[in-house]
Amino acid sequence: MNSAIRPTFHFAPARFWMNDPNGLVYLGGEYHLFYQFNPTASEWGQIGWGHAVSRDLINWTELAEALPANECGMAFSGSAVVDLENTSGFSDKGTPAMVAIYTFHSTAGDIPHQSQHLAWSVDCGRNWQRYEGNPVLDIGSGSFRDPKVFWHTESAQWIMAIVLASECKVQFYGSPNLLEWSYLSDFGPCGNTEGEWECPDLFPLTIEDGSNQRKWILKVDNTLGGVAGGSGGQYFVGEFDGTRFRSEGLDDQSARDSRPVDYGSDFYAAMTWSNTPADDRRIWLAWMSNWHYANSTPTHPWRGVQSCPRSLHLVSTNAGLRLAQRPVEELRQLRRRHGCWKNVNLAQGQSLLLEDSSGETLELALQVNMGPDALITLHFLRSSGSTTTVSFDNKSSELMIDRRGMATTTFHPDFSACHRGPLSSDDGIVDIRILLDHCCLEVFGGKGETVITDLVFPDGSPDGVTVTCEQGAAVIETLDLWHLDASHEPATP
Ligand code: FRU
Repeated sequence: MNSAIRPTFHFAPARFWMNDPNGLVYLGGEYHLFYQFNPTASEWGQIGWGHAVSRDLINWTELAEALPANECGMAFSGSAVVDLENTSGFSDKGTPAMVAIYTFHSTAGDIPHQSQHLAWSVDCGRNWQRYEGNPVLDIGSGSFRDPKVFWHTESAQWIMAIVLASECKVQFYGSPNLLEWSYLSDFGPCGNTEGEWECPDLFPLTIEDGSNQRKWILKVDNTLGGVAGGSGGQYFVGEFDGTRFRSEGLDDQSARDSRPVDYGSDFYAAMTWSNTPADDRRIWLAWMSNWHYANSTPTHPWRGVQSCPRSLHLVSTNAGLRLAQRPVEELRQLRRRHGCWKNVNLAQGQSLLLEDSSGETLELALQVNMGPDALITLHFLRSSGSTTTVSFDNKSSELMIDRRGMATTTFHPDFSACHRGPLSSDDGIVDIRILLDHCCLEVFGGKGETVITDLVFPDGSPDGVTVTCEQGAAVIETLDLWHLDASHEPATP
């Protein structure tokens, strides 16, 4: 089986295993990306925090491991903040400390134990001190992990969202100084309760309708029962008052309803950046894999890649309020050779072959006027004859990625699949944006309210992209295609 080439503008470590993003924080002109990392093998194990930095969210520099595992246990997922007011006392001569709050997974005893630890750095995350008073939060549980901490201005305290994983509950704790934590409330079980809950995040967003109304989003991941099978994320929209999160229900259905974060199978453990420069810009990324097959994806000598960073929005749709995700603006810098098509009529069975569309790093943006029962498909063709497709079906109001047509799907029985998300055209008009970076395929529909993120492991060299009208009739109003300039030389496989 061919081994996939390392993506270029998506972060993947040069070697070894990576899973969840951790400690996403901005400081001194750098976006920090810590991540679950095994520096000894390309399977999960010996987990600590790896570290990479970027000034533009595109070009990443891998640094030394920040918080390695030791003989007593591993550093599991968690978050990082900048303690601007020195509430913890970790600052050094006026330099605010970057504080990591992570789960220490102890393997010392017979039964694994999970408690919350702190480490801090006063040199932009290059050197770390573990806090002597660790653990700062221990409830004697083996299933208590993934603390996400932020400063809540209204109640003037640090808030931690954390899961009681096997009970499918998020718990909230409050602290004046990051060192002492008091219990505030529980949320759940509700929504999707298959498997365990992991990696919560809680943040406010302003509704994009000019009303200036703000809501809180609570995101939490499931180890099982994701919309595309295996692991996946869900979100609730509601209110947070400094003590309790109340879900409002996303539709007119029952309250406490949740929605999938992403309709593909490879978007897990998403986390938002803290301390970002423009306070109204909320960005996140997620691990592009699925616990179903993460340990056997055909890549070497690296395994694990993060999605592109995405800005987050809250949009009002006919179906109700939806979380929307869009690739960060910074990605536009990568655009190079460009092709543009306008007003192309496609009758049933007609195809448009996009000239100069053969490449492994592409962006496509389409606006299509769809007939009532139109179905259009973009085929990403390969010299080997294998293909990945992205489709929009106006009749069933669905956006799809189909990765069944690829040869490299045999490493796991669940990999070969078609993933679908609901998307309505707006008076027949649909917007679709696609990012392709070797094995990373991300498709954004509408205003970003429907996203499908999938790994694809193509074989053979790329032959180009065609757009076919499979049913009904469609008019491509505009289609832009850019070849994206890779930020670094892919590592030789
Ligand atoms: C999520 C997760 C977390 C845990 C980490 C261990 O993918 O299982 O709950 O902290 O990975 O690597």
